[in-house]
Amino acid sequence: MITVLVIHGPNLNLLGKRETSIYGTKSLDVINKDITALAAELGINVIIVQSNSEGAILDIIHKGSYDALIINPAAYTHTSVAIRDAIAAVNKPVIEVHLSNIHQREEFRRKSYIAEVASGQISGFGPESYLLALRAVKGILPRQ
Ligand code: DQA
Repeated sequence: MITVLVIHGPNLNLLGKRETSIYGTKSLDVINKDITALAAELGINVIIVQSNSEGAILDIIHKGSYDALIINPAAYTHTSVAIRDAIAAVNKPVIEVHLSNIHQREEFRRKSYIAEVASGQISGFGPESYLLALRAVKGILPRQ
């Protein structure tokens, strides 16, 4: 069975309460339940982690016990050369995910250090972005 690691970056633990006009009213718990349910349907083993710490995110990426990575690096998308380099070192599909469409927002959000090294980016579909990413992973990984 394919194992997919899902990483939620900083402040995403506040989903449902945080800037709801941009990020919606679903809590991270509810989003994670939806991810888990779709993963079961697709026959994917999913591991989900949230961290507000750049170093902790690096450590999780380095562990490498997964076949593909889905990551919403949140604010680190626009700042973190360290996460970029960790992803460049991962020899597996990596899908960058955003709830909001980062290309429609402030200028500083248009720059993603991650996009340059990710397999692809899904941005702007709210919590559905994670589900699309899971389907993308299923589509691009060989059957196991
Ligand atoms: C985000 C977009 C980022 O610019 C922002 O810093 C976030 C969330 C998104 O999912 O839309 O925290 O990654």
